[in-house]
Amino acid sequence: MLWTRRHFIKSASALTLSAATPAFVRPVLAEDGFLEITAGPSRQRLYQEEGALSDLWTYNGFAPGPEIRVTRGERVRVRFVNNLEEPSSIHWHGIRIDNAMDGVSGLTQEAVPPGASFDYDFTVPDAGTYWYHAHNKSWNQVARGLYGPLIVDEEEAAFDREHDLTLVADDWRLSEDETLDTASMGSLMEWAHAGRLGNWLTVNGLPHPKFSLKKGEAYRLRLVNASNARILELDPNRFGGRIIAYDGQALGRAETLTYAPFLLGPAQRVDLIVVPESDFALEELSGDSPFEFATFKVSGNGTASGEPVLPAPNAIPEPDLPNARRVRLDMTGGAMGNLENITYQGRKLAREDFRKTRQVWAFNGVANLGDDPLFAAKPGETILIEVLNNTSWAHAMHVHGHHFKVVKRSGAQADADPPWRDTFLIGSGQTVEIASVADNSGKWLFHCHMLEHAAAGMTSWFEVA
Ligand code: C2O
Ligand code: CU
Repeated sequence: MLWTRRHFIKSASALTLSAATPAFVRPVLAEDGFLEITAGPSRQRLYQEEGALSDLWTYNGFAPGPEIRVTRGERVRVRFVNNLEEPSSIHWHGIRIDNAMDGVSGLTQEAVPPGASFDYDFTVPDAGTYWYHAHNKSWNQVARGLYGPLIVDEEEAAFDREHDLTLVADDWRLSEDETLDTASMGSLMEWAHAGRLGNWLTVNGLPHPKFSLKKGEAYRLRLVNASNARILELDPNRFGGRIIAYDGQALGRAETLTYAPFLLGPAQRVDLIVVPESDFALEELSGDSPFEFATFKVSGNGTASGEPVLPAPNAIPEPDLPNARRVRLDMTGGAMGNLENITYQGRKLAREDFRKTRQVWAFNGVANLGDDPLFAAKPGETILIEVLNNTSWAHAMHVHGHHFKVVKRSGAQADADPPWRDTFLIGSGQTVEIASVADNSGKWLFHCHMLEHAAAGMTSWFEVA
């Protein structure tokens, strides 16, 4: 349950002094052209501007880390410097990337030890809204602040920088003293339930920021959900927001939603186009009353800028459904589920072992990265994965290195023209089919992006070779 508005008002006077449209911290440019991103401990005010400081782990001193901004087809060169006391690596979420640069500790690279660095060097094939985050013990490292936005512009960006806003939302759990609650981290009880849910939302690391917009002008709002486990419930229709991209991939049109709330799962992104007429707010709707977590002040005389050119879709190979190879993934475990029959590191777990191993979920009976891949695909082969959620919980499943289409969802009408995604939500008892062309060679993760679930068993891998 998010803290109530009343709790928030206590600090409202300090917040009215808030600066206009806040900016991200900058990456450091090294002499050889690499952007330097340094992970390390830092302190940040999460609850109110003049309030208590939380001890976080951040990239370049602030969560979110610097906004990395490049143009489609460009090379990204980042030197990751690890000043943490534990190993880490950076994953570039949603980028159809060269496997060696995917940043998954233990699968595509060794975790970078404290004091060491690692050079990431890759090109970005698709324009859109992406993000990066720690990919070693993510449940802990991301919860403490190790993430940032990665924006890939179209060659001719339709929105200038003033009309193109990146909004990285995060769900934090604060203690009564208004600082990050670290004592509760790693609770096995939460790992077996909905994951670590917070009680406070920030945007771009700021409590309740204000953005200044001009009336009648078109804006692109790029929303990223960096939460460990919180599914954000939003309603873009409340401010006339129309969807132009999901998970980075432009639709080539602007869609008005016909339902509410709109669910933005952990790691998912949505880009909206908004032409504001008056002040509005971003509200999270899962509680008894809407929880406002960012406001937009609208001023000016409203000389309309007209409808901007919308970004065109990226070129991603269409799945060949009639010839697809079917793979099945059966999700089990968790609280109020069947915790039997979990194999972990080659042995069957008995109930008493759950506490010791912290493995309480399984994919096809196996917890956490079995020796064998979920499937091995030939390059160019279409894979159709049928995912059955036989648990009592919702999950946010993420495929590395590829985008896919949701081609079927039980209990819902099939989408005639499904969007590309890299993360999909699946409700308890639901079956979802996704299809993708396995065209990116290497070993890739397929896991739940509720980071506690991923750590507690919901991680598998596949290979394209
Ligand atoms: Cu965004 Cu495997 O993660
Ligand atoms: Cu999950």
